[in-house]
Amino acid sequence: MKELLSRYPVSPQATQNTHINADKYQQMYQQSIEQPDVFWAEQAEQFIDWYKPWKQVSEVNYQTADISWFKGGQLNVSYNCIDRHLASKANQTAIIFEGDEPTDDFRVSYQELHDNVCRLANLLKTRGVSKGDRVCIYMPMIPEVGYAMLACARIGAVHSVVFGGFSTESIKARVLDADCQVVITADEGVRGGKKIPLKANVDAALVDCPDVHSVIMVERTGVEVNWQDQRDVNYQEVINHYEPMCEPEMMDAEDPLFILYTSGSTGKPKGVLHTCGGYILYAAMTHKYVFDYQEGEIYWCTADAGWITGHSYIFYGPLANGATTLVFEGVPTYPDAGRCWQVCEKHQVNIFYTAPTAIRALMGLGDELVEKHDRSSIRLLGTVGEPINPEAWHWYYEVVGQSCCSIVDTWWQTETGGILITSLPGAVDMKPGAAGKPFFGVKPAIVSKEGDVLEGEARGRLVMTGSWPGQMRTVYGDHQRFFDTYFSQYTGYYFTGDGAKRDADGFYWITGRIDDVLNVSGHRLGTAEIESALVLHPKVAEAAVVGYPHEIKGQGIYCYVTLMSGVDCQQSLTEELQALVADELGRFAKPDYIQFAPGLPKTRSGKIMRRILRKIAENELENLGDTSTLADPSVVKDLIDNRIVHG
Ligand code: WTA
Repeated sequence: MKELLSRYPVSPQATQNTHINADKYQQMYQQSIEQPDVFWAEQAEQFIDWYKPWKQVSEVNYQTADISWFKGGQLNVSYNCIDRHLASKANQTAIIFEGDEPTDDFRVSYQELHDNVCRLANLLKTRGVSKGDRVCIYMPMIPEVGYAMLACARIGAVHSVVFGGFSTESIKARVLDADCQVVITADEGVRGGKKIPLKANVDAALVDCPDVHSVIMVERTGVEVNWQDQRDVNYQEVINHYEPMCEPEMMDAEDPLFILYTSGSTGKPKGVLHTCGGYILYAAMTHKYVFDYQEGEIYWCTADAGWITGHSYIFYGPLANGATTLVFEGVPTYPDAGRCWQVCEKHQVNIFYTAPTAIRALMGLGDELVEKHDRSSIRLLGTVGEPINPEAWHWYYEVVGQSCCSIVDTWWQTETGGILITSLPGAVDMKPGAAGKPFFGVKPAIVSKEGDVLEGEARGRLVMTGSWPGQMRTVYGDHQRFFDTYFSQYTGYYFTGDGAKRDADGFYWITGRIDDVLNVSGHRLGTAEIESALVLHPKVAEAAVVGYPHEIKGQGIYCYVTLMSGVDCQQSLTEELQALVADELGRFAKPDYIQFAPGLPKTRSGKIMRRILRKIAENELENLGDTSTLADPSVVKDLIDNRIVHG
């Protein structure tokens, strides 16, 4: 490897063709901050087709957590993602599907996308779905997941996509919380050569969801499944009976578009609610500028539709821009770890967007698998989900990108709807490991724990001053929780939950979550959710879960478990508990380590001191900090003596 630089200046060559260059960034950013409503009104006109203009660009009150953008404006998101492109792009590819097996691929044109979405929208209507109803989508990564999302958007139904890796329990909780009465799923998913029993999981989840009257099932593998005649509908059998025309519903900008559940530091996952107008504008605009998307390019984001990245940057943003977006069913390591580069070569991918955890995993397997595929089509690389360590950044830049692609590290959250901080290609220098600078209209600030706003070079907590159109509007069914989670800590600011520093050049570096949220292979998990799963076991009295740095996954899951008195801690119990968590939450949440402990370190008021547990899990024993407030300091010695030394 060549010398590792800590800053890669924007090259003059790069600025010639990108949508934004350094001067334009400055000028547009300035305007977006000084006259936000003027700025956003212009963008909304440029990016989105409206049936009716809005009455007010924005109305934001962080004291009550009431946020609206483009209120009174009417539009339809599916129209913006499909219909308006048909005049010039009916035959252009909207979706390239690349199946789990490298021989399995096909293309979907904008016209075909239109017809498929309309048919499914009509099917939903005949099952009684109308504007405002919630529809759960539990699907593998096949084009139909996109059809399902857009069909809901077309008729004004609110989708709630549940990641295909989630368990029965998670489906059930989400269906009930949003009162979904229709579920769209597939018989099975296929990933890395393995089958995932999606329909069976749905069947099991719905035993406790009596209000679900329809399950629409796409056949992916043709496996035999249980069938309830009244409830279940076979997509392939019926879909061609429906008209490929369905008038899009006129939606208010502030009507809900979707709910997406995400983990927080306490309680059960929150239903993050996004609305039509602001969200689609923000997804489209960030997609165009952050990935510097140019007409005709092939764009590939490897995320799953079950996460916000899949929503904003596989489907909504790219399709709103009339792009060609690649939908990949498989995993980066199947049939071998060269799969991503093989797919890039085969489909001549220009823009590739993935997570640091995937980069680290592939980096460890050597350069040969990368180099044997032609990557000359790739022009821009992106990362999302967690901070990228400089070593992985350099490998991505030099080996994958052959030192000639821009890398955009993109910081954002389910709650933010789209990217808030990044190094805009052609406009902002790249610093490996730094997220970069704010996107247009975004005003980050760093505050101390106590809430003092820190200027200049600073380290503290990341908050946002003011709103942007893609911001979530509420926690579904619990507006108080929305306020409490994001606006109660620092009055007048949106609190991100992340720690960050700002360097002398104004670049933001994300230092990780400061709350009890873990980031495991880019999947967001609340420690409280894992703890709740563990204590379901009859032998478990109490559990505390912390994260520790993991070379590939970013963070691993380390659990401290106190057993009921008289219970022995055998190896089989470790396995049982790991399986229990996987069952309750999904396989990606399976704990790496379980340490049985006679007691947990608690303050005299009974609060578990996680700081200490984190240090022990990280094997950082010198730095345990103040233990004088512990009710029983002797538990710490036992925890240290019996810690699991790893890595
Ligand atoms: C983390 C994913 C550093 C962060 C889009 C955030 C990142 C959480 C980055 C949101 C990045 C995401 N650099 N950290 N580029 N991107 N994060 O809701 O802690 O699944 O708060 O959204 O991921 O995760 P979520």
